[in-house]
Amino acid sequence: MKKALAPSLSCSDDSRTSSTLSSWKGVDAIAVGVKSGADAAGAPVVPASPVAQSVVEHLDIDFNLEMAQWPDFSGKAGEIIELPVSEADGISRLYLVGVGNESRDELRKAGAALGRKTKGTGFCVLDGLVRNKENVLSHAIALSLSQYVWSLKSEKSEKSKKACSFIIHGNFGTEIARAITIVEAIYNTRDLIHTPSNTKTPAWLATQAKVIASKKKDISVRVRAGRELAQFGGLRAVGGSSPNPGPRFIEISYAPKGSSKWPLVVLVGKGITFDTGGISLKRPYDIMMAMKSDMAGAAAVMSTVMAMPDIKPKVRVTALMMCAENALSATSQRPSDVITQYGGTTVEVLDTDAEGRLVLADGLAYANLELKPDYLVDLATLTGAATLGLGRQYAAMYTRNNRLAKKLHDIGNEIGDRVWHMPLVDDYALGLESDIADLNHLAAKGRFQGGSVTAALFLEQFVGKSNWVHLDIAGTGRSEVDAGEFVKGGTGFGPRLLIEWIATL
Ligand code: BES
Ligand code: MN
Ligand code: ZN
Repeated sequence: MKKALAPSLSCSDDSRTSSTLSSWKGVDAIAVGVKSGADAAGAPVVPASPVAQSVVEHLDIDFNLEMAQWPDFSGKAGEIIELPVSEADGISRLYLVGVGNESRDELRKAGAALGRKTKGTGFCVLDGLVRNKENVLSHAIALSLSQYVWSLKSEKSEKSKKACSFIIHGNFGTEIARAITIVEAIYNTRDLIHTPSNTKTPAWLATQAKVIASKKKDISVRVRAGRELAQFGGLRAVGGSSPNPGPRFIEISYAPKGSSKWPLVVLVGKGITFDTGGISLKRPYDIMMAMKSDMAGAAAVMSTVMAMPDIKPKVRVTALMMCAENALSATSQRPSDVITQYGGTTVEVLDTDAEGRLVLADGLAYANLELKPDYLVDLATLTGAATLGLGRQYAAMYTRNNRLAKKLHDIGNEIGDRVWHMPLVDDYALGLESDIADLNHLAAKGRFQGGSVTAALFLEQFVGKSNWVHLDIAGTGRSEVDAGEFVKGGTGFGPRLLIEWIATL
C-alpha cells in the first residue's frame, strides 16, 4: 500500500530551552503562541513561556514591536506571522501563531495552521504553543493531520517529500505517545481511502489487514470469502455484482492472553470499495467520483483495532469490515430482489444504491448473534441525507443509550471527531414494511423523508438487545476542500473518537 509519510512528533523539557539557543541543534524554526485580546487594550499578547523567553534573549526580538507591524494580526487561533531570522544558530524562521484563548479547540486550530504553514519544508520546528498538558493531544494530532500528502505521482514528477519534525516544548511524553498512535491510525485510514478503487478490491483490503496485523501484538485476522459467506446474504447480493474477486468479511480481533472475561467492543464498518449505485445507477454521475471513499467506515474500524496494542485497554475489540464493490454488471442485484440477511431476516431491495445497509445488516446481526458484544458500534458512509442535515463537520449518531451518546459527543468535541445525537423516530419505522418480505430496506411507505433516520431504523432491526451506536459518516468521512486538518479526500474520521472512547472503558 502506498503510505503517506507522517511528520515526526516529540517533546522536550525545560532544561533544554533555558540553555542557549545554540543547543537547539537541528532546529530550523521556532513557533511562539500569541493570545488574542489579552492586554487591557484588547491587543494580542505573547504569554510568558520558556520558548518565548529564549527567543527574546537569544534572537533579540521584541514581540510587541514585531506585532505592531501587522495591525491585522489579532492572535485569533490559526493566524500566523512568519518572520525570517538571519540564520542565527541555524534557525531561519520564527512563527508567531495565534492561539486565541488557549483552549483545547483553539490549540487544535493553531496546530493545523502551523502544520499547513510548514508543510513540505522538511523543517524541524520547536513548538512552544502549548502551555497546558491537557491541550497537547489535540494540538499534536492537528499538526500532523494538516501535513498529510498522498500521491501516486511517479518519482520524476514528485516534488520534495520532506517530512517535518515537531518538538513540542514541555514534559509531555505520555501525550505525545498517544498522539503518535492516533496519528498513525488516522493516516492509515486516509491512505486506504485515497487508494483508488481499481487497486483496493475487497481482497486487497483483506491483505492489508493481514499485513498490518502481522506487525502488531495480540491481533488476529480472519477473512471469509466465497462459500464461507453463504449466510451473509447482504454481502453476497451487493458484492456479486463485481468480477473483482468478490466480497470479503474481514474480522480483526484484539484479544491479549487472559482477556476472555474483559468487556467486548465490536466495531462494524461499511467497506464498499466503490459505489456506482448498481442497477439503480447513481445520478448525477459526478457524485460518483467521491464513491471510492465509500469504505471509510471499514478503514476507520480497522485502524482503530490496530491501535489497541499501543493503548492497552482492558477491553477486547473486534472490527468487522464488510467489504464489497457495488458495481453495475450482469450479476448485479435487481431492484425488487429479496435477500436473506445473516440470521434469517428477509429483505426486499428497492434501490440497489442503498447497498450500505445491506452489508452492515449482516455484520450487525453476526455481531449480535455470535459475538454478544457489550458495545456494538457501526461506522458507515451511509446516506447523503446525513450530510444535508448536519453538514460535513458532524457525524449523525443514533443510539438509544443517552449516556453513551453524551459521552461520545463530549469526547468528539474535545478531540476533534464531532458527533450529533439524532432521534430514532419510532413512527417512521412503519415505512420499512414490505408486502412480501420481513422488511423493506428503505422507508418507501409513509413518505416520512429523513433518509438518515430511516436507514438507522433499518439497521436497528439487526442489533437485538445490543448496546448499539450507529455513526453515519457520509458527510464527515470525506472533505471536498483542502483546509485546516483536512486535505481533499478521506478525512480519517473515526479512530480519534473511538480510540479515546475505548481508552475510557
Ligand atoms: N454511499 C452512499 C451515501 C453517500 C452519499 C456517501 C454521498 C457519501 C456521500 C450510499 O450508498 C447511498 O447511495 N445512499 C443513498 C440511499 C438512498 C438510495 C436511499 C443516498 O443517500 O442517496
Ligand atoms: Mn449507494
Ligand atoms: Zn454507498
